[in-house]
Parts: sequence; structure tokens; C-alpha cells
Amino acid sequence: MELEGIKALITGGAGFVGSHLADELLKTASLVIVYDNFDPFYGGKEENVAHNLSNPKYKLVRADILDFSLLLSLAKKVDVIFHLAAQPGVRFSVENPQRTVKVNVDGTLNVLMAAKQAGVRKVVFASSSSVYGNPSYVPMDEEHPRRPTSPYGASKVAAEEYCRVFNQVYGVNVVSLRYFSVYGPRQRPDQVIRVFAERVARGESPVIYGSGEQTRDFTYVMDVVDATIRAAQSDDVEGEVFNIGFGAEVKIVDLAEKIIELMGAKGKVQMIFKPAYKGDFPRTLADNRKAGEMLGWRPKVSLDQGLKLFLAWFNARKSEKGGSRSVSSAL
Ligand SMILES: NC(=O)c1ccc[n+]([C@@H]2O[C@H](COP(=O)([O-])OP(=O)(O)OC[C@H]3O[C@@H](n4cnc5c(N)ncnc54)[C@H](O)[C@@H]3O)[C@@H](O)[C@H]2O)c1
Repeated sequence: MELEGIKALITGGAGFVGSHLADELLKTASLVIVYDNFDPFYGGKEENVAHNLSNPKYKLVRADILDFSLLLSLAKKVDVIFHLAAQPGVRFSVENPQRTVKVNVDGTLNVLMAAKQAGVRKVVFASSSSVYGNPSYVPMDEEHPRRPTSPYGASKVAAEEYCRVFNQVYGVNVVSLRYFSVYGPRQRPDQVIRVFAERVARGESPVIYGSGEQTRDFTYVMDVVDATIRAAQSDDVEGEVFNIGFGAEVKIVDLAEKIIELMGAKGKVQMIFKPAYKGDFPRTLADNRKAGEMLGWRPKVSLDQGLKLFLAWFNARKSEKGGSRSVSSAL
């Protein structure tokens, strides 16, 4: 699908990944509808959308994906839906499984029904590496068993299955992308890189849950946006699922050390260890060859580069808000 001049709807488009996707799509699309309920799970989303409000190609709709009739009326106006709205957070889901399932499963069903009824040309769904749970092998390819360890992971498995079935039964053209630990500017405040940075900026020690030996495959947000746009553009990927992960394993202790160093806090803060939380999993490492072969996607931003870009945003935001001490001569 040629994206020049297309009309797109982004559910969750005021959030971390969705707002970057909106910025990127506005370069080529003729209309970008951001559909987001500004869920109070965390604040600060107004900052993600403010710079686009005066753009005539940008339309912000503050609404819930559980409102089917509104969603349908907007789906009728677009060629493609990027479905990113979700209740994220593994730990949140362990405490609030019903909310997680309501938004992530019922919400996805609504998006698929709206896409079907409106005859939308393509749906790109944001799934998660959390569908895998404890790995049987790494790197995990798309055929790796899905055995999630949290209600969040289970909700994404269910949503993926609805995507698959809507493709098979109703011919809805849908692609699912399993994002791996996305990070970068505008990162959610509950995510590990942001949590560590906030603490170090306050002169506090990062808290590590478990041994810190657990690993994640951190993937820079603009690489994820690139993959998401490619999934919409590519013609021969209907019904496919792709791992969208950088392809490198980083231990949480090493991540904490890197952040402490980049923020110039070496020797000033130490790591604090607390018991592992429920729902955590020991490793993630993406086999991203399928996305390379079928989407032509290659992640470009290494963790070292991406952390610097994240911290540049983080520091600028802090100083705008009259915030904390200046950080890092390393940037
Ligand atoms: N960030 C990651 O590391 C990561 C990893 C894997 C998958 N994902 C998935 O990618 C997508 C985007 O994640 P994110 O990190 O940008 O999260 P985010 O919370 O920043 O964005 C989600 C957006 O959805 C909106 N939303 C929530 N419930 C809604 C509802 N009922 N109706 C309308 N809007 C609603 C929120 O207000 C938010 O703006 C999510 O589907 C998430 O599960 C993210």
C-alpha cells in the first residue's frame, strides 16, 4: 500500500509509541486521526500531541476504543488502522487483570469489527514479546510457543488470535507486530529505563527486582515506528506476525550501570535489590530475521545511541519543568 496521501487512524496515538508514529505518518498521509482516551494510567500525554494540534491533517479524538459506534464512524474515514491502544504494563496486569483484558481483548475485537464493517484496507496491531513468557530457546522466532507469564501477555495472545481469525474468517487484512521493550523519548514512566533515570536524577539508587540477571531486548522507538510503517506498506504480509526487536540481550544490572554512568552518577548511587515481581520473565531476545526478509526492516539504533537520545529528551524535559540537577557531560 502506497502511504503517500493515505488516511490513517491510530488508536493509542497520544501514547509513547503512537505519538511518534503520528509524527512520522504526518510526513506523507493526508489525514491522521489519533483516537485516544488519555487513560489516567500515567500522565503527560498532552505533551505528546500538543505540537500537532494546529496541523490541519491531524485530528485528535478523545474517546475510548470500547465506544464501538464512534470507532466505526471514524474507521469509515480511513484506509488503515494502526491499533496501539492498550492497557500496558505486566505488573499492572497482575494487580488488575480484568481492566487489562477489557481494553486489550474487547478493545481489539472492537477495532477488528470496525475495520471489517468499514472495509478498512489494513490493520496493524501492536502485540508484544510478552506473549512468549519463559523462553524454551533464544533467540525466539515467531514460531516459539506462546506461554505468557502475566495477564498482560495472555491478553496480547488473545488479541493476536482475534487478528488471525478475523483475517481467516472475514478477510480483514491484519498484521501483528510483537514489539520488544521499546524505549526512547516520551517513554512511559512505568518502564524500566525511565524508572531508573527518574531515580538517578533524584540522586536515588535504581531498584532492581530479582537478581538483575534477567535480560531484555531493548528496541529504539523510531526503529519500532519504521517497522510499523513498513508493515502497513508491504503488500504480501497479510495475516503475518513479526518480531520487532533489536536482537541483543541486555542484563538489567548492566542497563542500570549504563544509565548511572551516562547520567554522571557513578559512585554517587548504588543498585538496590528487591524480590522479583510476579509476572516477570527471565529473558527476551528477538530473532528478527523474518521482519528483515519480509518487511526489509533493520533496526538501526544501538542501545548506547538510543540511551543518549532518550536522556537528551529526559534532561530537556526536566529543565523545562525547572526540574532536577543537570545530567551528564557524556551526552
Ligand atoms: N512500550 C513497549 O515497550 C511495548 C512493548 C510491547 C508492546 N507494546 C504495545 O505497544 C502499544 C503502545 O504502547 P506504549 O508503550 O506506547 O503505551 P502507552 O500507554 O504510552 O500508549 C497506549 C495509549 O493507549 C491509550 N489507551 C489506553 N486505553 C485506551 C482505551 N480504552 N481507549 C482509547 N485509548 C486507550 C492510552 O491513553 C495511551 O495513550 C501497546 O499496545 C502496547 O501494549 C509496547
